[in-house]
Amino acid sequence: MALPSINPTTTKAWQKLQQHFEAVKDLKMKDLFAQNLTRANQMTIKWEDFYVDYSKNRITPQTLELLLELAEETKLKEAIDAQYSGEVINKTEGREVLHTALRAKATDSILVDGKNVMPEVIAVKQKIETFSNQIISGALKGYTNKPFTDIVNIGIGGSDLGPAMVVESLQYYKNHLTTHFVSNVDGDHVNEVIKNLNPETTLFVIVSKTFTTQETLSNANTLRTWFLNHAKQEDVAKHFVAVSTNIEKVKDFGIDEANIFPMWNWVGGRFSLWSAVGLTISLSIGYKNFNSLLEGANKMDIHFNTEAFDNNIPVILALLSVWYNNFFNAESEAIIPYTQYLTQFATYLQQGIMESNGKSVDRNGNPVDYQTGTIIWGEPGTNSQHAFFQLIHQGTKLIPADFIGFAKALHGNQDHQDKLMSNFFAQTEALLNGKSKEEVIAEFKTQNLSEDKIQSLLPFKEFEGNKPTNTIFIEKLTPESLGKLIAMYEHKIFVQGIIWNIYSYDQFGVELGKQLANKILKEFKEDAFANHDASTLNLLEHYKKLS
Ligand code: F6P
Repeated sequence: MALPSINPTTTKAWQKLQQHFEAVKDLKMKDLFAQNLTRANQMTIKWEDFYVDYSKNRITPQTLELLLELAEETKLKEAIDAQYSGEVINKTEGREVLHTALRAKATDSILVDGKNVMPEVIAVKQKIETFSNQIISGALKGYTNKPFTDIVNIGIGGSDLGPAMVVESLQYYKNHLTTHFVSNVDGDHVNEVIKNLNPETTLFVIVSKTFTTQETLSNANTLRTWFLNHAKQEDVAKHFVAVSTNIEKVKDFGIDEANIFPMWNWVGGRFSLWSAVGLTISLSIGYKNFNSLLEGANKMDIHFNTEAFDNNIPVILALLSVWYNNFFNAESEAIIPYTQYLTQFATYLQQGIMESNGKSVDRNGNPVDYQTGTIIWGEPGTNSQHAFFQLIHQGTKLIPADFIGFAKALHGNQDHQDKLMSNFFAQTEALLNGKSKEEVIAEFKTQNLSEDKIQSLLPFKEFEGNKPTNTIFIEKLTPESLGKLIAMYEHKIFVQGIIWNIYSYDQFGVELGKQLANKILKEFKEDAFANHDASTLNLLEHYKKLS
């Protein structure tokens, strides 16, 4: 079955949502809480170790009903079934979308072209486990017979961001190996990493689904050349492994077939950290923890697939995002984790969300006449409070935000944890309530300010509030809970793509720039520039003079 193709704006639910929007757009959440004392409980989903409170949104129960109708009318359930049953829902690339299979149970049967892929998935997982154990324990050694101390992950986009984000997020669970990531084609990046490496004890993991990506191959070549300045050709086999679908190209690079960790075309790059692309994760935190990450994601997959939509975390979060994006015309969403461990989380999600849903042509091939993908950004709290929160509180833009917090600190410093979490709760409360004129005046009065002073400062000190937030409150940051959290956003992406009637799993938009870069690179070598606009031509010539 192909994905249904329904222009969301032609549905009855959309028309109703438009009318409903006019009626509720100016309502104050503060008043909605006052009118309905059970609102917070009604708009909270408790699932496993997750407590998701979405009551601080500019919605009424009727908004939710209409959004759920929209999900029905755009045939979300059918689309989920199509995805989980291995249909070719990535139609523009002719592929299934089965990252869920990577974390499925060994006993599950997931068919691609009528063949159960689980035995292959399990075989690769076993290969990851064995290899990780051998490197971590020191059973596998480098060319001078020393155990490995450093891992260098060479990849970009989905072959970098997922592993880099997870390794950083789970650094509490890390072993003795030092992990480095080289992604940018900027030679300064790779050279800064090289400064800290010892060729005798470094393992290089080249990750590229296609094994044609300019950045990754350039960095891999540079690192291999550097390695060969110290070691012999036959030592490459001990120090270089690769993760790819393109076995031939990996072999051409000179990597032993035994050192290739396969992946499959039915895994999208930005959804691939669960595959052998996560090898660096397994090497860094051990296979057991890597597997817990996968088990967490599997639990979220089951929740998403089986839970009624009105109690389904990814579905509700996606519908709320559609509400703000398409009715309030909000352009961006902030993701604010209250843990320093998740520093790279928003960056990781930028690829997942913006590469997937940054589309302007619908599933019929027609230009859309409504907004699609949201702009994602964010940094951990409390740092972000001292950076960009001013704009969220008092700026002119509506920025719905996800606040992600963990009840328990990993190192158990309760004093810090209470301070951190008091900020976590205070910010969503402040965004909800704002500060009224009366409150500002009362505060000024306690400071004995003159009436003139009060009146002159009043407009600046008043906070409108009514800024929407979701609170995603989790017991503790563990490999399993992180797996659940990442999978939650993956499914949110899917739901939004279905509702917006776009294909979320291709990324043709990144191709044009790559093609032009190749053309310019060739022109550098030939020292002749042709067919450029005047601005680019001037810049190229200026570069030639300076470089
Ligand atoms: O940015 C485009 C893209 O194709 C991403 O989707 C992908 O994650 C990245 O490049 C890297 O691709 P590869 O794993 O094939 O090197």
